[in-house]
Amino acid sequence: MKKIIAVINQKGGVGKTTTSINFSYGLTREGHRVLLTDLDPQAHSTIGLGIEPETYKYAVHDVMLNKSDIHEVILKTSINNLDLVPSHIRLERAEQQLTPEMFRETRLHKALRGLDYDFVVIDCRPTLGTLTINALYACNFILVPCEMARFALDGFADLMETIENVKDNEEIEKEKFIRILLNKFDARKSITNEWVVEQLKPYKALLFETRIRQNEALNQAHIAMEPVFTFKANCPGAQDYEQLTKEFLNLCQQLETS
Ligand SMILES: Nc1ncnc2c1ncn2[C@@H]1O[C@H](COP(=O)(O)OP(=O)(O)O)[C@@H](O)[C@H]1O
Ligand SMILES: [Mg+2]
Repeated sequence: MKKIIAVINQKGGVGKTTTSINFSYGLTREGHRVLLTDLDPQAHSTIGLGIEPETYKYAVHDVMLNKSDIHEVILKTSINNLDLVPSHIRLERAEQQLTPEMFRETRLHKALRGLDYDFVVIDCRPTLGTLTINALYACNFILVPCEMARFALDGFADLMETIENVKDNEEIEKEKFIRILLNKFDARKSITNEWVVEQLKPYKALLFETRIRQNEALNQAHIAMEPVFTFKANCPGAQDYEQLTKEFLNLCQQLETS
């Protein structure tokens, strides 16, 4: 079964885009064909892969408004086995235009359905609006990056409730696995870390064992518009995303055999 992973958190700045890019890259390193779908009007995943908005004609909003077939929109990236559905600031208006439309919440699900990739990764915007709901309908795996800071899981209850509502729909894949990824981990901040871990106790079973350490190379790679793996191989950021990819693939294997 094709895995569609939605990277979601209603908070901004927690590492959704960083994770979308580097986890996608990590999957290609393990030999998989990956489609990264940028579903944030800020287009940070698109730009983060070195693709500037002036250079493409169609983007994800054309798919969401049923104006283009997704095949017309998909771009090759400079990375082997990684394709991209780019975003554009026009997606902001498209989300508003979608509000009165019929079947607006399953557009992405329908667009991705027939595609031939091993994995689709969807980088979401920091809201629970129509676009993120589309990602929830389309996905079978939800990855929630969280910062190691106070309010780390603010909004998580709302997200869980929305997921339950989405599952009530008859048309879609019911199984949606959820995993929380702790990001910007800094071992020196022991008091904060203990506090966050305590807050996360009820969700312990949902935590990835891998934590992404605070690592300036991740920030710099973003500025250089490339994955951390090509920017600075073997830095802590690259090591952590490699480990995350392996943990995720192991989990997929366990789920398939169970
Ligand atoms: N583990 C990390 N270490 C250092 N900087 C990080 C890390 N994760 C994310 N960042 C930086 O934090 C900022 C927000 O991350 P981003 O992935 O854009 O968040 P989101 O997509 O959730 O808004 C970016 O500047 C990014 O480079
Ligand atoms: Mg982002």
